[in-house]
Amino acid sequence: MKLLQAIKLANITLNNSVAMSPMTRARAEVDGTVNDATVTYYTQRASAGLLISEGANISEQAIGSPYTPGIYTKDQIESWKKVTDAVHETGGKIFAQLWHTGRVAHSVDKNDVLPVAPSALAIVGQQHFSSQGAMDYEVPRALETAEVKQVIQDYKQAAVNAIEAGFDGVELHAATGYLPNQFLAESANIRTDEYGGNIENRSRFILEVMAAVTEAIGEGKAGIKLSPSIPYNSILESDPVATYSYLIKELNNLPLAYIHLMNPLFLPEEGFEQYPKDVMGTLGTLTTHSIIANAGYTKETAEAELQKGIAKIISFGVPFIANPDLVKRFELNAELNQPDRATFYGGNEKGYIDYPFLDEAVL
Ligand SMILES: Cc1cc2nc3c(=O)[nH]c(=O)nc-3n(C[C@H](O)[C@H](O)[C@H](O)COP(=O)(O)O)c2cc1C
Repeated sequence: MKLLQAIKLANITLNNSVAMSPMTRARAEVDGTVNDATVTYYTQRASAGLLISEGANISEQAIGSPYTPGIYTKDQIESWKKVTDAVHETGGKIFAQLWHTGRVAHSVDKNDVLPVAPSALAIVGQQHFSSQGAMDYEVPRALETAEVKQVIQDYKQAAVNAIEAGFDGVELHAATGYLPNQFLAESANIRTDEYGGNIENRSRFILEVMAAVTEAIGEGKAGIKLSPSIPYNSILESDPVATYSYLIKELNNLPLAYIHLMNPLFLPEEGFEQYPKDVMGTLGTLTTHSIIANAGYTKETAEAELQKGIAKIISFGVPFIANPDLVKRFELNAELNQPDRATFYGGNEKGYIDYPFLDEAVL
């Protein structure tokens, strides 16, 4: 079974080809530090070949939701060290996901400061889950060009901080409508400077972030998560294949560890014909980097995906919430625990670190 085979990702050897997809669990402290329960949570799941952390805010400006951790203060870096040390002690590997939410935020959780974005365009038809409940999105403040360059520096510094915190590498969250995705998409970016307009300009932000990050932390340590066929958070593209083909080909010029590519999710049957349904086949074939394929996989479909030879690793999200020993369960063809969606975001240890492991004694 390919899924359980050890594999090399850039210069890092992974114990198997299963990754844990990044998942926000909103259980950090108010100051963005992570606590002992988070150390336990990741350590419990460290038999995955690669763990990718929940999105970690790269700055105060980046924060979109309460109780999400950060990677920009000394205390935050120190708190993550406990996680990375514990994961490494069990033989696991862990990347930090770098997160700037841009307009997917609300001023009620930002000390009354408006969220920033490429352009002053609000998300419509959805609400934001804030500490005050579900709220309509506000029109964000458009970043000045000099501020865009500062955000790129913030990503770079966050990557350096992540390495200091003991992470094996970092992943840029450029998927599902967060700031990098906002720069890329026509529906969120109507800028007239070098970061807006044609595909080349809309891709510039992501490419400059990845160049800055790889320059700062070295080869084979930075990945990027992309969701070409997910028009969520008011992310709409008239020609997503053209946009992502350009971006993915340009990323070939940088020494990345991987591209984390998502299959379509929430794609309505009608009106979205321009979006590729077979993301791996259409766009995955354009990269020279390793691909981590994500979204909706079971053990069987993951195995079939690896057999196609495009993806090298499969990442699992929800199955890892409920099954800390997911790899073992795959190995033994064991039943999976079912996830409790009510405890995905926020709360305490319930639904976080209390999912049962297989009782090996009764096998
Ligand atoms: C509770 C929850 C939180 C998530 N948070 C993040 C996140 O912080 N960053 C990210 O890139 N994706 C996030 N995702 C998406 C997952 O990483 C993954 O892409 C998605 O769940 C699809 O994979 P799956 O079908 O294996 O669950 C989250 C998903 C869930 C269920």
